[in-house]
Amino acid sequence: MILDSEIGEQVTQLIGERRSHPRLEEPAPDLEILETIFSASLRAPDHMHLRPWRFLTISGDDRKDLGKLFVDHCKDSNPSAEQKEVDNAYAKAFRAPLIVVGIATYKSHPKVPDIEQAIAAGGVMNNIGLAVYAHGFGSVWRTGGYAASQIIKQGLGLVENEEIIGFLYIGTPATRDRHVRPLAADEFFSVWPNND
Ligand SMILES: Cc1cc2nc3c(=O)[nH]c(=O)nc-3n(C[C@H](O)[C@H](O)[C@H](O)COP(=O)(O)O)c2cc1C
Repeated sequence: MILDSEIGEQVTQLIGERRSHPRLEEPAPDLEILETIFSASLRAPDHMHLRPWRFLTISGDDRKDLGKLFVDHCKDSNPSAEQKEVDNAYAKAFRAPLIVVGIATYKSHPKVPDIEQAIAAGGVMNNIGLAVYAHGFGSVWRTGGYAASQIIKQGLGLVENEEIIGFLYIGTPATRDRHVRPLAADEFFSVWPNND
């Protein structure tokens, strides 16, 4: 356990400053950094250590296959989609040099309902985003119709007990960081019971 107040302050500041980066470009973190990020991120809280998750990484030309799945979903959900919409769907696979697909892999367990398992998988995704940010890169977590699409789930090889919890687009921020206003803790945290 780290008992260093300076590091503690830095980590807390980093968590508080994290923001998403919807516009991303090359490069993504290299393989060595990614390995460290992925391995650290897996230390998310996980009831009964079920490890109810797996992740796919998609980069380079492999994004063409993801783009084709996005197109298939687009045409299926809107058979009268114009060519522009179809092109947009394909282009979404190229919004970042690296895409991590987060998948909740639900295990049957008497004490751990699916929602806890999805939250645990989400914890890993959030950790990845934070660690990416800590390394000076950017990311944005997206879901939308693509995450729920049977066509995309099947194309990515998901099975019955699995669900896409999100696509984490990762790369180098293409724009300067906008200012983020910190949220006021007292809006969301209160002492209970309030005996005033
Ligand atoms: C589970 C989940 C799904 C999300 N899906 C989308 C999405 O489909 N499209 C989108 O624009 N933002 C989505 N977001 C929100 C962005 O990732 C991001 O948090 C939001 O744009 C606010 O930016 P910020 O993180 O800098 O505050 C999602 C976030 C979460 C946690």
